[in-house]
Amino acid sequence: MLVGFKSQNHPQQTRYAGSNPDVDDRALPTEEFAKLDERFKFSIDVAASAENTKCERYCTAQVSGLEWSWKGERVYCNPPYSDILPWIRKAWAEPEAEIVVMLLPANRTEQKWWQLGIEPYRDRAGSVLRVEFMSGRIRFLKPGQIVIGPNERPPFGSVLCVWDWEGSRLPAHRTLFENQD
Ligand SMILES: C[S@@+](CC[C@H](N)C(=O)[O-])C[C@H]1O[C@@H](n2cnc3c(N)ncnc32)[C@H](O)[C@@H]1O
Repeated sequence: MLVGFKSQNHPQQTRYAGSNPDVDDRALPTEEFAKLDERFKFSIDVAASAENTKCERYCTAQVSGLEWSWKGERVYCNPPYSDILPWIRKAWAEPEAEIVVMLLPANRTEQKWWQLGIEPYRDRAGSVLRVEFMSGRIRFLKPGQIVIGPNERPPFGSVLCVWDWEGSRLPAHRTLFENQD
């Protein structure tokens, strides 16, 4: 037993039964979103509030992104981290979306949402799902926060899970590895 050791879990890491705004309302800084948007050209933010939405069109806890159709959409999704599995199920249930890009914590891969919905399918030949482990750590913003303090970087990295439904409908193509220093 570690004597005098105080758990330093970041709030976004802690599991709660039910939603918790302090955990679930962490927003991606605009400049980080811009990098993703340049690549993916999103049409809708499906997990948002009026204050933190990254797209003009968005869903909220009231007009749920889990109920809304994603058909024909280029979906940006940074879901509430207290309950990720329903969002994974939703991504799989929307094959008529163009693309679904979900931003998730990269260090909870032992949990059910990853083991059930991501691990068996990711990066397999012919699979619509690929994952990209991101470099560095994103400093998410609390509600109302504009400036991020020096010690507020969360103790976990992020992973992008990409369901390329549109790509899966195109003729198969081969991607060659390019060594980039
Ligand atoms: C991690 S934050 C993402 C905030 C913002 N979209 C971003 O990426 O910067 C998740 C957001 O989803 C909202 N939310 C919770 N349940 C939802 C639901 N069923 N449908 C849509 N949004 C929901 C929360 O209120 C919160 O604002």
